[in-house]
Amino acid sequence: MVEQWKSRSGFILATIGAAVGLGNIWRFAYVAGENGGGVFLMTYLFFVALIGLPLVIAELSIGRRGASDTVTAFEVAGGSTRWRLIGWIMVGGALLILSYYSVIAGWAVRYFVGALSGDLWQDAGEKYGAYFEGFISNDFEPLFWQALILIVSGVVVAGGIQKGIERLNLVLMPLLGLIVLGLAVFSLTLPGSGAGVRFLLAPDWSAFGRPSLYLAALGQAFFSLGLGMAVFVTYGGYLSASTRIPGAAATVAAGDTVFAIVAGLAIFPAVFALGGDPAAGPRLAFVVFPQILLQLPGGTFIGPIFFFLLSAAALTSMISLLEVAVACASHRMGLARNRGSWAIVAIVLALGVPSALSYGMLAEVKLLGQPILDNIDQAVSNFVLPLSGLLVAVLVGWRIERLRTLADADFGDTWLGAVWLWSIRTLAPITIAVILLRSLGVV
Ligand code: PFF
Repeated sequence: MVEQWKSRSGFILATIGAAVGLGNIWRFAYVAGENGGGVFLMTYLFFVALIGLPLVIAELSIGRRGASDTVTAFEVAGGSTRWRLIGWIMVGGALLILSYYSVIAGWAVRYFVGALSGDLWQDAGEKYGAYFEGFISNDFEPLFWQALILIVSGVVVAGGIQKGIERLNLVLMPLLGLIVLGLAVFSLTLPGSGAGVRFLLAPDWSAFGRPSLYLAALGQAFFSLGLGMAVFVTYGGYLSASTRIPGAAATVAAGDTVFAIVAGLAIFPAVFALGGDPAAGPRLAFVVFPQILLQLPGGTFIGPIFFFLLSAAALTSMISLLEVAVACASHRMGLARNRGSWAIVAIVLALGVPSALSYGMLAEVKLLGQPILDNIDQAVSNFVLPLSGLLVAVLVGWRIERLRTLADADFGDTWLGAVWLWSIRTLAPITIAVILLRSLGVV
């Protein structure tokens, strides 16, 4: 018998925990910064509502019907063993994401500890850039912090659905919500913060002409929601029949989006108020932002809070990715949850070594002029995730019979169900395919 969530709110908070992560704070801020702020936000919102949300519903419905792990769920949904392959591909993808995601999560933990002890402010002095480069290029340190946060995730997942994952998220997610709100209020009260708000919320229409905008916004929507890696299939497997999927999915998508915008309102107003560069790329949260904190009254107090937020948000997402693989290891390979969790943690650590060392020992290894970690991040977010989304859309929209698929998603034969199915059958696959083909230069 597969374990189930104890309560609907426990399920929703755990799922928001999976969605809210580095993607909402670290990645959202820098990708929005690189793609023009307001224009990016509008495009992003459009993709979340019309493609992301329908796919969250689709993944949850496959998961609940299978009531097991991802591989089993795809077999049940597709009606033949051939569909298992998609499940295995997603499990592999989840491990791949985890392998580099845990490296960045490790950086966040390292910065949290450094900000708390004060070492971060002292050692970095005025030279945050050099400090950050020094840390990530060290041959041992990034691996150490990565292993640490992976082990913490392993402990939670080994604890089980109700006692591990659900319990942690029930406490942590409301706390993180309060923290990010508090940080935004603080940032918005700084003199000169208005320029940051305008940057994020006011679109510069001319930027809509850039094709790269659409790929970046689609990739970010998938990454931030946590789509395409079977997290919702897995968490849906523990869901009772009494929870209505569309309402739960809308709550999760809205929660994830609001979180990203509020985090943006914590970061950009402060960056603009103190003359930082909003388009600083992946270094925005680790270099530009701490440097700004140090110039503010109370900044050394805010620093640890910000990096706690980043680390804890990353932890709840890592847990969801780990659970995708652990559920398969336990249901399909018969490993006990405890053993399965540690086996997967060990695999991820091994897979993560190249990413952890990609700015140090392996800095010379470059693909398309970028380090290994940046390559994996872009390949996964911009291609692997949308492609898995496409497969899910084909399965749910075309393979499963219409009334069955509507019933699995708790829609029934309603107009809302018809809109959902139209997105899953037509809008989502075509949009994803066009954006992918365009970015590969095919059309
Ligand atoms: N949604 C997470 C974030 O925004 O950081 C990352 C993530 C989790 C991506 C789970 C993919 C996934 F399946």
